[in-house]
Amino acid sequence: MSQLAGEAKPVVAILTVEDDLTQFRGNRANFRDIVKIGKELDFPVYVVTTKDLKLTAKKVQGYLYHTEEKQWKRQWLPLPQVIYNRIPRREDERRPSVRRKIDDCLRHGSIHLFNPFFFNKWTLFDWLKKNRATRALVPNTKRLRTPGSLLPMLEEYGSLYLKPESGKAGKGIMLLQYDREDLKPYRLTIQGVKRRNVVYKTGKPQLLWKRIKAETGKTRYIVQEGIELVSYKGRHFDLRVLVQKTGKGVWTVTGVGARLAGFRRITTHVPQGGSVEDPEKMLLSVFGQEMTNYLMSRLKSNALLIAKQIEKGAGHTLGEMSMDLGIDHEGKIWFFEANAKPMKFDEPHIRKKSLERIFQFSHYLYRQGKDLEPLKR
Ligand SMILES: Nc1ncnc2c1ncn2[C@@H]1O[C@H](COP(=O)(O)OP(=O)(O)O)[C@@H](O)[C@H]1O
Ligand SMILES: [Mg+2]
Repeated sequence: MSQLAGEAKPVVAILTVEDDLTQFRGNRANFRDIVKIGKELDFPVYVVTTKDLKLTAKKVQGYLYHTEEKQWKRQWLPLPQVIYNRIPRREDERRPSVRRKIDDCLRHGSIHLFNPFFFNKWTLFDWLKKNRATRALVPNTKRLRTPGSLLPMLEEYGSLYLKPESGKAGKGIMLLQYDREDLKPYRLTIQGVKRRNVVYKTGKPQLLWKRIKAETGKTRYIVQEGIELVSYKGRHFDLRVLVQKTGKGVWTVTGVGARLAGFRRITTHVPQGGSVEDPEKMLLSVFGQEMTNYLMSRLKSNALLIAKQIEKGAGHTLGEMSMDLGIDHEGKIWFFEANAKPMKFDEPHIRKKSLERIFQFSHYLYRQGKDLEPLKR
């Protein structure tokens, strides 16, 4: 590798989809931050839509942010060498024209695209079960299909989480519990959006199943062993780990944050009343200093194992992901999910580093040249 090639910076494009009203979709504040850091690090960077990205052209129409006028302007720009996929919604990514464009990028002779697709909750568990080390971190998980599969699991674990395979931000999540003492022992807590939980109780399995079906409709669900998370001042918390690749192309933990559930909420999402907390402070309140140090280092090493296994399963180049990990009363670490399009981490020290890493990794990809990967889903 010549020194010169190492010095040159690739043109980086943030990939999204067009929008009739707002030009393009996605979190603009996030895109602005990415572009700003890119500029500081001397990388040409802009936002491009799958529609505008014409891979055979020399120039494409992309969006640059003009700070003085506080607006994004469409202009002709050089074709990117590295593409960072930030298509914000699964529905958009599923559109045939969008999929085709992503496939074309993956197959392209020189352009690199990383994080090609959203993860599916079920597939993630499937991948992680294939490796002995990661298998130990995942709660027992099945597809929700028939009452016949649900009830024995409930019997075994006492509480189950029901989650949409393509869910996010806690949408559609339910908690199913069995209380032997109660006349109506089946208790289903349905997390409402922007409202209180709805609790449905019954003694009849048929009625329970009917209610679950009414909630899930046609959406595919997984059912998962409920983990008794540790709590702080009576509220559960879990950990969000941001894992990214460095300028050397190796996975590393950029930051760990804690999310504390809102009062009586079954998930820890901020829009559901959760709050952002310091992970060490949370862990210290439960475990004491020595165990906290140990857990922090285990969280990081486990997150790296998981990231590697997910990348293997995905069969594509990934550059970053965030993960939701829980800790039970015995200090055991559990994997809940990974996101291929991580949300912004609000913790300032994590945020800055995370933005820089996107470019350091892009630079690494560019220097590598491209090994064509087989197309796979
Ligand atoms: N099996 C489980 N046991 C205990 N808590 C869980 C379980 N699954 C999910 N949760 C809680 O719900 C949150 C959301 O679950 P997650 O799988 O991340 O769904 P989403 O895609 O909606 O974020 C987790 O961060 C955790 O706090
Ligand atoms: Mg989550």
